[in-house]
Amino acid sequence: MRELPRRRVLVGLAGVFGLACGLFSAAGTAQAQGSLVLYCSVQEEWCRAMVTAFERETGIKVSMTRKSSGETYAQVKAEAANPRGDIWWGGTGDPHMQAAEEGLTLEYKSPKLAELQDWAVRQWEQSKGRTVGVYSGALGFGYNTNEIKAKGIPEPKCWADLLGAKLKDEVQVADPNSSGTAYTLLATIVQIMGEQKGFDYLKSLHKNVNQYTKSGAAPAKATALGETAVGIAFMHDIVTMVVDGAPVKVVAPCEGTGYEIGSMSIIKGARNLENAQKFYDWALTPAAQALGAQAKSYQVPSNRTATVPPQAPKLADIKLINFDFAKYGSSEERRRLLSKWDNEVKNLPK
Ligand code: F6P
Repeated sequence: MRELPRRRVLVGLAGVFGLACGLFSAAGTAQAQGSLVLYCSVQEEWCRAMVTAFERETGIKVSMTRKSSGETYAQVKAEAANPRGDIWWGGTGDPHMQAAEEGLTLEYKSPKLAELQDWAVRQWEQSKGRTVGVYSGALGFGYNTNEIKAKGIPEPKCWADLLGAKLKDEVQVADPNSSGTAYTLLATIVQIMGEQKGFDYLKSLHKNVNQYTKSGAAPAKATALGETAVGIAFMHDIVTMVVDGAPVKVVAPCEGTGYEIGSMSIIKGARNLENAQKFYDWALTPAAQALGAQAKSYQVPSNRTATVPPQAPKLADIKLINFDFAKYGSSEERRRLLSKWDNEVKNLPK
């Protein structure tokens, strides 16, 4: 047998030893702290800040996927027979409520529940303990002041103003199938105007819509860039653009507006159930909720002692409708309204 050069043998042995140590410590870590599969439905920056802070605090390795609210609901449903996600954090409450009703998520009572605002606890009660409120925010729109001026468009103040002829192809909003923001618009308009008039409104609005985006916050970004004159979105997402210096004005529509209770649910069949519960409890603490503002997300946090970011639109100053979360988050109503919107609005010629 040919003798191997001494140096190569030593390097080889060191490699085997290193690999063994690596495997040993990886297994040790996995056993001690484990992992967590997080489905996240807020802005990417906030999702990443949550992952980093939770990993640092607990040593639990988080694998995160960011998708819009309706998209995440569809994924959780599609995976129901073989769940891959452990916890779904963020996104509007309606698909969380629908998932709860359809038995896709688990009941859980966090010791932190007692620290939450009434609206967050109500979400938990209405879903029979399967989802809880993590933040809140009002729907509105923003307009690019330069674009409006240059095109001679009167400053819109009300939902009705968005139907103006000068706004043809100048309004952007998301698709309510993928986006919880856009579903909140659909449910808001129906609650303010009644179903018949509400759908008439959405059909007229369709003439002015240049694009139905996948994500709810995309129209806020497009407005900031001047790609659209008006973007319908949650007011806090438009505030982010203003904070970044964009020439954008945020509007709380004069007729009144709807709002969201951003929610969190543990997925049924979670493989890392204990870690999902750890994340759930942690996400309800004031410290975790402070990460939103640090990531330039200006929702109102659900823990009563969490600091409300000064940039957050003041819900008390906005004419909020008495949003029926139970009805518009119910499986039957959500499915019915979305298919009606697909049939009567989305495919209308312009
Ligand atoms: O950007 C954050 C946010 O507006 C949340 O407040 C909200 O729950 C979520 O995004 C809705 O996103 P989407 O409309 O894409 O489902």
